[in-house]
Amino acid sequence: MNIKDCYNFEDFRKLAKKKLPAPIFHYIDGGADDEVTLNRNTDAFNDCDLVPNILNSVGEPDLSTTVFGRKISMPLFLSPTAMQSLYDPDGDKASARAAEKFDTIYSMSTMASFSIEEVANVSSGPKLFQLYIHKDKSITDDLIERCSRANFDGMCITVDTLVAGNRERDHRTGFTTPPKFTLDSLLSFAMRPGWVFKYFTNKKFELANIKNKTDKGTNIAKSVMDYINEQYDPAMNWKDAEYCIKKWNKPMALKGVMSVEDAKRAIDIGCTAIMISNHGGRQLDGSRSPFDQVKAISDAVGDKLEIILDGGVRRGTHVLKALAAGATACSFGKAFLFSLGAGGQKGVERLLENMQKEIRRNMILMGCKSVKDLDASKIIYRD
Ligand code: LAC
Repeated sequence: MNIKDCYNFEDFRKLAKKKLPAPIFHYIDGGADDEVTLNRNTDAFNDCDLVPNILNSVGEPDLSTTVFGRKISMPLFLSPTAMQSLYDPDGDKASARAAEKFDTIYSMSTMASFSIEEVANVSSGPKLFQLYIHKDKSITDDLIERCSRANFDGMCITVDTLVAGNRERDHRTGFTTPPKFTLDSLLSFAMRPGWVFKYFTNKKFELANIKNKTDKGTNIAKSVMDYINEQYDPAMNWKDAEYCIKKWNKPMALKGVMSVEDAKRAIDIGCTAIMISNHGGRQLDGSRSPFDQVKAISDAVGDKLEIILDGGVRRGTHVLKALAAGATACSFGKAFLFSLGAGGQKGVERLLENMQKEIRRNMILMGCKSVKDLDASKIIYRD
């Protein structure tokens, strides 16, 4: 099996599972507690159905939309995700290049393997930076200033990860960053010699954006949960977010908004967008899914800011349903990390090509000429 045989999420997932050591595969694949929310994120799309209109002279539909001040070729982009060099040695550089090829957004995590500057050097495509607020506030200022200099288009502040979710798969596999080769985990790495070879013959693992501020996660191996609990500020509040928005002074989102009330408050502090997200089901298990919240949030504030649905997206029809419910665009993490693990830059390109084809085909089948035609009349919720 290779990436040419990957037609859908499950295909990429299977191929990534064959290539990645178990601790790394499960770090992507897993969620918090019983993984109820993780599963619900995708299942929620099946609680409504699309209603097509016929004979609309669609011809070639226009898939483009505008978010974070950039027109992108389709209403779907790459979510910010940490430590991408664990999935492919080129990590963020590979994803950024693939996104640029498809004229959509690449998003960089604070915990990226390549730095803001390294990625800006290889891609002039649309770029979003994801900010984690550390206890050490000088990290926040440094990251915002560097993103400004590197001409990133937008930023999002993650607000759903003040402490780490309980990811039991990571406890069991002993996943750390950088990976630790313990007696327990040795077998899972030894079974993936291709990955081990690449890991030791490429750039040394690091948290490139923050390595000058802390050794943890770069030279000192840590579980991601321990890193989050030690480094992030659990007392973060609206004033901290407002400070970042003012300092950045360009398009900004809060990532992890789930309620109408918080969406309204995001507007009050100057956000231009929100990302409705529960961190891919990795944080608060039992949380509602992003799709379940889009309609209410869009009905309340959809004319005042951009709404990104982040979570559970696996199919073009999921994107269509999200837009019909009121989202401006969607982002996805797991699907693209599996494609990166399965085939590096080519894998991500293959996934984006598949998704673009699915969105285009289904827009024609829906009788929609542009993303604006995907409105509330296009879906019916089941009882
Ligand atoms: C995670 C953080 C690092 O979900 O975003 O693992």
